[in-house]
Amino acid sequence: MGLRSGARERFLSACLGAPTDRVPAWAMRQAGRYLPEYRALKEKYGFSALVHEPELAAEATLQPIRRFSELDAAILFNDILSVPEALGQGYAFRDGGGIAMDFTLDSAEKIRALGSPEDVPARLDFAARALRLVRAELGGSRALLGFAGSPWTLAVYMVEGGSARQFAKIKRLAAEEPALFDALMEKLSDAVAASLNLQISAGADAVQIFDSWAALCPAAEYERLSLRWMRRIAAALPVGVPVIVFAKGMAHFAREIADAGAQVLGVDWTRRLSDVRRIAGPRLALQGNLDPAVLCFSDERAVRSRVRGILDEMRGERGFIFNLGHGISPDAKPENLAAALDEIAAA
Ligand code: CP3
Repeated sequence: MGLRSGARERFLSACLGAPTDRVPAWAMRQAGRYLPEYRALKEKYGFSALVHEPELAAEATLQPIRRFSELDAAILFNDILSVPEALGQGYAFRDGGGIAMDFTLDSAEKIRALGSPEDVPARLDFAARALRLVRAELGGSRALLGFAGSPWTLAVYMVEGGSARQFAKIKRLAAEEPALFDALMEKLSDAVAASLNLQISAGADAVQIFDSWAALCPAAEYERLSLRWMRRIAAALPVGVPVIVFAKGMAHFAREIADAGAQVLGVDWTRRLSDVRRIAGPRLALQGNLDPAVLCFSDERAVRSRVRGILDEMRGERGFIFNLGHGISPDAKPENLAAALDEIAAA
């Protein structure tokens, strides 16, 4: 079979819509609390050290790769909130779950006082060092992904002051103070581009932009609130490095997202991949979209059957990467991910 290839090649070929020997696979948030080895590492060092100490970040990145031999890509262990932190707005976890930013970004003065995107590479040097360690360990055996939050998704956490329920503050800012909103988004876009360029220089083969809060945008406002800023970022990245946009709840914007510079669209579980393909055309690769709740099921056969459903839907299509429709939840069973990956490797 002329198409037999290593994991890295398989993944990158799929990003470009080229044929592959099988569907490549990885899982959003594949390093994390569902893995006992991650919980042990976090217990010992704490979350912040896992992010900020390059050796520990590299170890957390590699844990899922060691456990699941069929994973085609590793994703740097880090957090989207490292960019706000690099601009001077740190974060912590709330007791009982969720994010608390160190302060709420609720005035023009605070927005102006944020750090400069030019300082971001120096402040995120730990991420570059972690990526170099991971690359040294992986060699060319797997694809290595860098990532960042979209400017919109970061602004949601920054302006709301953390995880929120109503999202009135960010929506009010965007609607009533468009110039100030644009100034914040411009700074965030340049900071995210600086972070992604740093990760690419340090060895990332592709980058994913998490627009996890895309669905907060009214459809008529998606361009102004989120898409135009991702276009600005994509334009600042080197040609030839695939950009994956995970636009949760916004897959019906597939064509516009492709036009904004994405080579791959991350699709959540509420859409049929075949419908998204029809909207997007063959040029945009798709990534998704198993409901992450399936990995919490007690019956492995149900997991396999759901995975087969997705593979059947995309059978014969180029430009497809298997993933979940959102991040793995802490109560997912590692054996279920193993079963899902086995089903893909056997298909
Ligand atoms: O995918 C990976 O394995 C790489 C690591 C990664 C983390 N966060 C580590 C992490 C990635 C890709 C992220 C992305 C991220 N962080 C997103 C986008 C993806 C998504 O799920 O939509 C968002 C919105 C965040 C912000 C964030 N960080 C949240 C909402 C939380 C959860 C808070 C909670 O109480 O559950 C975090 C914390 C976080 N980031 C954890 C991990 C493994 C869990 C915290 C822990 O281990 O204690």
